[in-house]
Amino acid sequence: MAQVSDLRFLVTPGGSLQGRLRVPGDKSISHRSIMLSAIAEGETHITGFLEGADALATLAAFRRMGVEIDGPREGEVRVRGVGLRGLTAPDGPLDLGNSGTSMRLLSGLLAGQSFATTLIGDASLTKRPMRRVTEPLAAMGARIQTTETGTAPLGIEPVSSLSGMQYAMPVASAQVKSCLLLAGLYADGETCVTEPAPTRDHTERMLTAFGYSVRTQGSRVCLTGGGRLQGCRLRVPADISSAAFFLVGASIAPDSDLTLESVGINPTRVGVINILRLMGADIELIDRRIEGGEPVADIRVRSASLKGIRIPEDQVPLAIDEFPALFIAAACAEGETLLTGAEELRVKESDRIQVMADGLARLGIEAEPRADGMRIVGGTLGSALAAEGGAIDAHGDHRIAMAFAIAGLRASGPVEIQDCLNVETSFPGFASLASGIGLGVREVRA
Ligand code: S3P
Repeated sequence: MAQVSDLRFLVTPGGSLQGRLRVPGDKSISHRSIMLSAIAEGETHITGFLEGADALATLAAFRRMGVEIDGPREGEVRVRGVGLRGLTAPDGPLDLGNSGTSMRLLSGLLAGQSFATTLIGDASLTKRPMRRVTEPLAAMGARIQTTETGTAPLGIEPVSSLSGMQYAMPVASAQVKSCLLLAGLYADGETCVTEPAPTRDHTERMLTAFGYSVRTQGSRVCLTGGGRLQGCRLRVPADISSAAFFLVGASIAPDSDLTLESVGINPTRVGVINILRLMGADIELIDRRIEGGEPVADIRVRSASLKGIRIPEDQVPLAIDEFPALFIAAACAEGETLLTGAEELRVKESDRIQVMADGLARLGIEAEPRADGMRIVGGTLGSALAAEGGAIDAHGDHRIAMAFAIAGLRASGPVEIQDCLNVETSFPGFASLASGIGLGVREVRA
């Protein structure tokens, strides 16, 4: 049975977002920082690590495979790497909670080990498609079992070796690409992955930071197995996917002027900025710099009147996690916004097309869900209260919960959102940080 969350957000309507803030560390980069430092030689010192449940699940998994890890303490982590072949068998299944990134990347990293592992997760993760990783891994010689429907638990059996492979990904997925590159570290010969559209390249960048040679040519990325990673220092930038809620919030709330500090602006992640700018947003990148191999900037965002657009399909993989927030921008924009080519949204932590359409309808917005996207007609947002016919249901999806919290800035009445506990997975402290800059949100625990 689905686990029922006991956390609700209650949002007082109106307000504006003002001031400066640093959102927590990047989730994708935090996961990779633990995975790569664990299999590196020597110590890695990480700062800015995201202390959210997803990245902590990855950290706990490596502790259980014999890696000594100090922290996290205020984002600081020290990992004593055990080398490519130094992991040891955990004493039971590795529980990865809500985290698809942990499960998909670990399936690749563990496919070539000399011990068996079982990967499990929560009700949402257990529904998500895993054949996209297990099938290509099997083609490399891995022995991995899914359920009959291609979902977790994943049972990984030891193998004596994996073979390098040339793989053309059918979906644009950084998780699949990263999974196969991590398996490729343990494979004989070369592993090359070609992507149908650019996806986040944090794995490639970080492998390079650990001194591992990665060759990228156009849409194809290759590495050769059997090398070594050397521990290093890593600085995790603030997560643009968490900043996205405030980019939208400050755009839609009148009289807003907000600066988000040290946000990662990797070109494979900036779809949210590109799309908001096409809608008319006032977003300025200040003091662009490189930190730990990743581009970073402070982002100033001020209120703007947004207009509906047809979202270019080439921006979809670059904004894949930001559509819940972008749908709120569309609901507050003048005219119609159309998203297509985004069927992947149906297999995220929830079915983000259906769940967002339901929540927008609850607020009185015309939102037509489609197989691969959504049509939204901007309008006036109403209210949503359990006592008055229903709160919005976040379905345990962190980004849905935060998106509707931000919608409160333009709602005509209070907005109540239920099943918000998983906000912890990517953005611990969201409600207090957001209320500190002007969002009238408070947490109610049942
Ligand atoms: C991620 C890749 C994306 C994204 C997820 C994190 C990653 O998933 O949605 O939140 O860290 O590689 P897909 O690669 O499946 O699109």
